[in-house]
Amino acid sequence: MSFNKKDLISIKDLSASDINYFIETANEFKKISLKDIKKVPTLRGKTVVNIFYEPSTRTRSSFEIAQKRMSADSLSISVSQSSVTKGESLKDTILNLEAMKPDAFVLRHSESGAAHFVSKWTKSSVINAGDGINEHPTQCLLDIMTVMEEKKEIKSLKVAIIGDIYHSRVARSDIYGFSKLGANVYLYAPHSLLPRLIDIKNVKIAKNMKEALKDADVVIMLRIQKERASYYFIPSIEEYRNFFQLTPELLSMASKRVTVLHPGPVNRDIEIAGSIINSGKTSIFKQVENGVAVRMACLYILMSYQKKNN
Ligand code: CP
Repeated sequence: MSFNKKDLISIKDLSASDINYFIETANEFKKISLKDIKKVPTLRGKTVVNIFYEPSTRTRSSFEIAQKRMSADSLSISVSQSSVTKGESLKDTILNLEAMKPDAFVLRHSESGAAHFVSKWTKSSVINAGDGINEHPTQCLLDIMTVMEEKKEIKSLKVAIIGDIYHSRVARSDIYGFSKLGANVYLYAPHSLLPRLIDIKNVKIAKNMKEALKDADVVIMLRIQKERASYYFIPSIEEYRNFFQLTPELLSMASKRVTVLHPGPVNRDIEIAGSIINSGKTSIFKQVENGVAVRMACLYILMSYQKKNN
């Protein structure tokens, strides 16, 4: 099995068997993180440039750790210390970095479509680490990996995605990924924060929390995105909390063995009761652990494509 694309931009570009291939590869790479010496020579001699135009804790550190564990040479451009502050465009930034012959770019950007544009200006592989409200494909892969560890299969699972879906690139990628693998996806959000134009057979808008949560096998909670002015889309935080917060009582409607996910950062006691996180019954830290393995797999798969095609 192989993957026949230079870049990882969107889950829409992946078939169900591509997704399974990424997860199987991540399962193999996860073993490295469990060893005493967490390093393999797989990407020795390869150069990876991480450029984050938006803040990140999980994605950026897990990509950096993945690169170190695979012996790649990597650098992370701090946009606030770069010539972006002098007005250099994204295109010129990439063209200049490209001249230094990297093998891959990992890009996070506030504009939807940024990773797609960048992929046209470079021969290097481009991994979308989150573009605006569009997609976050590696988050989707780690979410699927985490659910597969607990449920074995995604097909026929009820997956509830609740919160600020409109502004969530994680939600968009998860909707595409989980539905491709045959899950029944239920979305629930204030009307103003529901996505437009999601027309997929096994994706449904729930009428209330009960319909979204009843017998759910997986619950993915999303935060209100301050940085995208989501507070203007709801009457108040108190109102939002009253109708959309996941409480222990509401969670008891889900399947007994429900998997609770959250991409982070969590705003405790807004979208999810802090007591649910404190109970240790969520899979949030498993998601973070699997993030390293998924990013190792993505780098490996795209570098294998480069080796075959250059
Ligand atoms: N899940 C996620 O993308 O988190 P960060 O913004 O911290 O990278």
